[in-house]
Amino acid sequence: MKEQQKGVVIWLLGHSGAGKSTLARLVAHRLETDGYRTLPLDGDVVRAGMNRDLGFSDADRLENIRRVAELCKILLEKDLIVICSFITPMQSHRDLLRKTLGDRYIEIYLECPIAICEQRDVKGLYRKARNHEIENFTGIGSDFEAPAAPDLLVPTAMWQADECADAIYHLTLETLAR
Ligand SMILES: Nc1ncnc2c1ncn2[C@@H]1O[C@H](COP(=O)(O)OP(=O)(O)O)[C@@H](O)[C@H]1O
Ligand SMILES: [Mg+2]
Repeated sequence: MKEQQKGVVIWLLGHSGAGKSTLARLVAHRLETDGYRTLPLDGDVVRAGMNRDLGFSDADRLENIRRVAELCKILLEKDLIVICSFITPMQSHRDLLRKTLGDRYIEIYLECPIAICEQRDVKGLYRKARNHEIENFTGIGSDFEAPAAPDLLVPTAMWQADECADAIYHLTLETLAR
């Protein structure tokens, strides 16, 4: 592990299909190639396991984030670079993350118009939500509040994935250096 590695939580948020999982993989790969130790936490994986008792009500969405925030706090003690991919739809979720993790929390908003996310429909979920097969789907049956003050805004519908990964990678290195 790199000597100067410090614990940091790179929190990628945005609509389903905005590019969270894709960019988490790209950024983790770059950092690992540099010799940093990363730990990815993906919303889908966490919801399938640790948080499988939770649904998509407002209360459960907040509890989902709260548990992950506490887990991140533990992981920070080992100086890991934790890369999180969660929709994180409400400002109250981000406020809780900031309160729990302090200046180790780096908020990155993957901005992508919902129409583009729906066109991508990587997992076919938008189609299901439109057909009322899924309730409470973010952007359709459930709200998404744009972040008030992200540390970085990455327009994933305008930039190539590589360029987006570059921006996140550089902010991570800056954060580790400060
Ligand atoms: N600039 C970009 N950044 C990230 N993904 C992009 C970008 N442009 C196109 N894509 C595509 O958009 C999709 C994003 O899917 P995914 O990463 O699974 O989203 P999320 O995890 O946010 O639901 C992928 O198919 C990816 O190839
Ligand atoms: Mg994903």
